This record gives sequence, C-alpha cells and structure tokens, in this order.
Amino acid sequence: MNTPEAFFVNSWNVYNKLVAHNYMFHREIYAAVERSLGDGPARPFALLDLGCGDASRLAPILKRLDLAAYRGVDLAGPALALAAENLRGLACPVDLRQGDMLEWLADDGERYDAVFSSFALHHLTAAKKQDFFRRCAERLRPGGRLLLIDVARDEGQDLPAYLDAYCGTMARDWTALEAGELDFAIGHVRSYDLPETLDGLLGMAEQAGFTEARRLGQYTWHHALSFGKPA
Ligand SMILES: C[S@@+](CC[C@H](N)C(=O)[O-])C[C@H]1O[C@@H](n2cnc3c(N)ncnc32)[C@H](O)[C@@H]1O
Repeated sequence: MNTPEAFFVNSWNVYNKLVAHNYMFHREIYAAVERSLGDGPARPFALLDLGCGDASRLAPILKRLDLAAYRGVDLAGPALALAAENLRGLACPVDLRQGDMLEWLADDGERYDAVFSSFALHHLTAAKKQDFFRRCAERLRPGGRLLLIDVARDEGQDLPAYLDAYCGTMARDWTALEAGELDFAIGHVRSYDLPETLDGLLGMAEQAGFTEARRLGQYTWHHALSFGKPA
C-alpha cells in the first residue's frame, strides 16, 4: 500500500519500537505537553487529536487531566482499534473516527478547547498545512489552543539536505531496529516527509489568525509548539 499511513498500518510495532527507544523524543515532548495542557482552562476541556495513531503516549496524560470530551481522527483503522484500548477508562466521552484529518476538519461541526496533533502534519504539502492551521483555528473556541508536535527543517536547510541529515541520524542512532525495519522506516521518511522550517510553521499559524505562539520544547528536529486563538 503506497500511502502515508501504510507504515503505521503494516508496521505499528516498528513505530512502537522507535517510540520506546525515545528516538523521536516522545518522553521529553509529552512531558512538555502535559505541563502545557495542565496549564489550560480550569473547567473540563474538549480535545480533538488529529493523526492520533494508537494514542498510547497521550492516553496516560489525558487520564490525569479534567477532560470533557476526546475525539481522535486517523487514516489508519488498526491504529484506532489500539487507541480504543489505550483510551479505555478515560472519564469522558471518547469518539474515534477513521479518515483524513483535513477532510474531518472541513466537515466537523464541533468546537474544541484544544486541538492536538503529533507527528502527522509533516506528511501534508505546504498548501495543505496552511489549510490545516486555518481549519484548526475555525474549530477552536475563542481562547482555545493548538498544540502541535512535529519535525521541522533547520532554517536554510532544503528538503533533500534535511532528508539526508534525518535519515543519516536514523541509520547511525536507531540501532534497536532490525536492518529490514530500519530500511522500511527510512523508505517511509524519504517517501512521505515534507517538513517546513520552524519559521515556516510560525508564519502559517500567524496567517491563520493564531496570536500567541509558544515553543514548548525542541529536540534536534523535533518540536513541540503551542498556538493560541484570541479570546
Ligand atoms: C507518526 S504517527 C503519530 C502517532 C501519534 N500521534 C504519536 O505522536 O505517537 C502519524 C499518524 O498520523 C496518521 N496520519 C498521517 N496523515 C494523516 C492524515 N492526512 N489524516 C489523518 N491521519 C493521518 C498516520 O496514520 C499515523 O497514525
């Protein structure tokens, strides 16, 4: 299957392995996300998670927060089945939808206090990323926040240079993966990853009407960002 979600449908165990070894800095990044979400509104809040995958890293955090509702959207059906397991016990309504996040954003009639998206945006073209920011702003209540985790190119680094650098790091440091798993992961990155620079992402957010951009953490090319919609 030649699609961005194929890696996660066919090889969720590979993704789990690289998360378990913290190769994409999930540990530090999700600690920053928990601090940021814990800083949010005092009342229970509604969260939309775009490209939620199996929600395995977010679920334990959500269980410690005062959530009114959780909705997760992902292209990969098998990941959503795992998400349902991981989110079991959450003390709020949980709604999981299979589909494309941009299409979902266009059709969704709900309003949210927070939109969260982790390591999914970089698969979209620049035009679609801009659309993503615009539609997220539409879905958020006034004073709501977009929490974005994603990879970004260094300033001045073009896509081929980024891909060479990122895949070079994978080949050197992701030693827990079997050779076949590493080849598969590198093939996925080279085929589907289209990260912007950090300034590019900040500019898109500003153009979509977000006023308050915060950098929650950066670990090599892996960023955690928060964008506020004016109250
Ligand atoms: C790298 S995984 C991240 C999973 C989880 N959010 C995390 O941070 O561990 C990327 C996820 O985004 C999903 N995805 C990619 N493009 C998508 C799109 N256009 N719409 C919905 N989901 C998408 C994939 O199926 C996959 O589950």
